[in-house]
Amino acid sequence: MELQFGEAKIKYASYPDGKCINFGKHRCMVRWDKKMREEQKSLSKSEKCKGRNLKCESFIGSSIFTPEFDEQYLLPPVESEILSLAIAEGDNVLIVGPAGAGKSSLVLQLASIFNWGVERFSCSDETTSSKIMGQWVVTGDHMDWVDGHITHAMRNGLILLEDEADFMRPELRGEVHSVMEQGGSVTLTGVHPKTNKIFRENLKKHPQFRWISTANTIGYGDDLFIFHGTQYLNAASRDRYEIIINMGYRPTSEEIEIVVHKTGVERSIATQMVRVANDCRDSIKDGMIFQFSLRRLLSWGKYHQKFPSEVACKLSVLNFTNETDRHTVKSLMRTHMNIETD
Ligand SMILES: Nc1ncnc2c1ncn2[C@@H]1O[C@H](COP(=O)(O)OP(=O)(O)OP(=O)(O)O)[C@@H](O)[C@H]1O
Ligand SMILES: [Mg+2]
Repeated sequence: MELQFGEAKIKYASYPDGKCINFGKHRCMVRWDKKMREEQKSLSKSEKCKGRNLKCESFIGSSIFTPEFDEQYLLPPVESEILSLAIAEGDNVLIVGPAGAGKSSLVLQLASIFNWGVERFSCSDETTSSKIMGQWVVTGDHMDWVDGHITHAMRNGLILLEDEADFMRPELRGEVHSVMEQGGSVTLTGVHPKTNKIFRENLKKHPQFRWISTANTIGYGDDLFIFHGTQYLNAASRDRYEIIINMGYRPTSEEIEIVVHKTGVERSIATQMVRVANDCRDSIKDGMIFQFSLRRLLSWGKYHQKFPSEVACKLSVLNFTNETDRHTVKSLMRTHMNIETD
């Protein structure tokens, strides 16, 4: 499948004639070169948006909100394709998976490739209506509206990246149901405390506004009791996502590539590290609660380059485990890497 987002063209197969960033066999992202960008600029908007297989109405061009491109990012082929399609379609997406699996970075990196601005915020039970929707502030006899995360993204045509969506209080989520609907809008009203004058604005979604949430659970509770603080998601809230993408840790070969390229450790060491991580992940069914995330692996690789191996594995891995898990992890370190720790 090939998708085109304004200047960015993405093809999910080998791309011999394009400028392909050579990083693993799945790296198939193509960025247009400068000349193509110039040609692109002279096209009308409808021509710009013409995709091969899809009509894409969504390109807005680069902005100060466009995330940094990570040269070492390895696009997960299946998830990238699905998310790209959903973005092109304008659908709300929930990405669910364990800690440090790459959920948020997938959104940020695709947005970067598409030159699309992102408004990112993380939910907690302290998340308030004024933080996400905004608030009226009194200035003399007037009131000015100050956007929150959602209204800012709605107004400016950004991708709203709502991280830790399962931390938001369910009743607050009810407030955003209307925004998540097709053609959704919100009415922002305020009454001046002294003059009682009413201020009102009807804010419609910019056509390029997108809603993508990430979470560790799908809001049915956390069977493993690992993700404390997560809330149950109201069924109507869950139903407002067109799709849910399940994102697990990357397959072994991809994870090794990522560790090698991001930390500079030798491939043989990265392979052993990923083996330890995978065995720890398998041990979850036997009661391990430690989540060996890609984030842990990247930290381990980095500190392995700076400190003796026993010190690095303590700093980046062992110190994150409880007493019971530490015992298992230590023995895996011994088996796979010959690392002895006290
Ligand atoms: N495909 C990838 N290629 C290179 N680096 C990656 C990839 N996926 C994730 N990473 C890196 O792994 C780390 C964790 O990724 P990220 O923060 O996206 O995870 P997450 O699933 O959102 O985690 P959490 O649930 O804790 O929010 C980041 O440093 C990110 O840059
Ligand atoms: Mg995240």
